[in-house]
Amino acid sequence: MNIDVILGLQWGDEGKGKIVDYLAGNYDIVARFQGGPNAGHTLKFDGQKFVLHIIPSGIFREGIMNLIGNGVVVDPVILKKELAGLREADVDYHSRLLVSKKAHLILPTHRLLDAASEAAKGKEKIGSTLKGIGPTYMDKTGRNGLRVGDVYTDDFRKKYDTLRNKHLQLLKIYPDIDFDLEMLENQWFGSINTLKELPAVDGEYYINDALNSDKKILAEGAQGSMLDIDFGTYPYVTSSNTITAGVCTGLGVAPQRIGEVIGITKAYCTRVGSGAFPTELYDKDGAELARVGQEFGATTGRPRRCGWIDIPALQYTIMLNGITQLVITKIDVMNDFETIKAATAYSINGTEHHTLPFDFNNADIEPVYQSYQGWKTSINDVTNFDNFPTATKDYIQALESQLKVPITMISNGPERTKLVLRNVEAKI
Ligand code: GDP
Ligand code: IMO
Ligand code: MG
Repeated sequence: MNIDVILGLQWGDEGKGKIVDYLAGNYDIVARFQGGPNAGHTLKFDGQKFVLHIIPSGIFREGIMNLIGNGVVVDPVILKKELAGLREADVDYHSRLLVSKKAHLILPTHRLLDAASEAAKGKEKIGSTLKGIGPTYMDKTGRNGLRVGDVYTDDFRKKYDTLRNKHLQLLKIYPDIDFDLEMLENQWFGSINTLKELPAVDGEYYINDALNSDKKILAEGAQGSMLDIDFGTYPYVTSSNTITAGVCTGLGVAPQRIGEVIGITKAYCTRVGSGAFPTELYDKDGAELARVGQEFGATTGRPRRCGWIDIPALQYTIMLNGITQLVITKIDVMNDFETIKAATAYSINGTEHHTLPFDFNNADIEPVYQSYQGWKTSINDVTNFDNFPTATKDYIQALESQLKVPITMISNGPERTKLVLRNVEAKI
């Protein structure tokens, strides 16, 4: 068996949680491979809404195992809160959730370093979610990190103190920030006890044994490819590999084990935090996308910047990920538009480009737009592709012909059931 992948092709928040939750029923295991509580994945079903940060989006499906992979960074305090939410909803997570021993831990001082580093950057700040993601991955690559498996060792407290003391030294290079470390540490160590209730496994053996026993596995991405540490709009990115390659390192699977790679894009585009966004709208269309799409961050509540869909950026991320099928989400958000636009190229200093420039953040990118007729009617109750208005079909087909990958799913509402399947010959 191979492992299928679902990931975001833009700057995050494409609707990964919803699609993973929908498809999870076809799989035996859902595994997160990177990121951490910077993610906010929203699921809506049976009149309920859940936002997951570290826990994979298959958790609500009975009989499915969920793995927090080694590539994920785990904040035990946030994990404890998420588990409490699941308990409240009567989800028996004990029989469904595993964590890799090699996943790195976010310490309270990682969060402080994130906040201090952002404060010091002033106007140049990344716009981080302040969950300690960057500092934790820095300690991972710097070979100083603490991992889930360490909590079971006798000298865990000593290891913790060493790293915490180093962080306190580091904090001195930044402007002062207020914190109550004793309170934070009490909370953190209390949460470590909850973390210990989850089975800690050798995730790489678990996943490979499952693949060898013909189990179906879905890898769930966090963030989006334009936030990838290597290929995103650096330095305004997150600190992990959000692309398909991250599945191999974040779960311990070989490249030839990758099966379907399902890329998700909104029918338009959003971004939270700093960094260039060529198709960003500052007009009433942008405000309409934000209002109807309820574009507020699921983790931080910050307003998301909104704009038209960006084809050159999508062509780039489709290339990087080896996308085999596409999902378009939030098409219903555009129900009231007279005209819809898509950027089909970038004009930079008068020359048209279809590739992304190295200096993306500072280049003077002028999007070249193609216009499409809006459908001016609600499509929220459509269940079959043929029943979409002609203008909706034309827009979807125009995207497909430019992106050169089959669009197999169209999401027309936040609820689990609002998904129009199209030519899904795919082996999912
Ligand atoms: P993720 O981080 O990729 O999982 O996405 P988020 O959960 O952060 O943001 C997506 C938001 O859009 C959530 O509020 C979802 O409930 C909502 N959503 C997902 N799909 C659709 C859709 O097709 N239509 C509408 N209107 N909302 C959607
Ligand atoms: P999901 O999985 C949208 C953005 C932050 C910031 C940058 C770096 O819900 O799609 P970090 O906290 O990682 O240091 O922040 O990345 N960012 C996201 N934007 N969705 C996310 O996750 C994001 N995770 C991080 O806003 O610009
Ligand atoms: Mg999100």
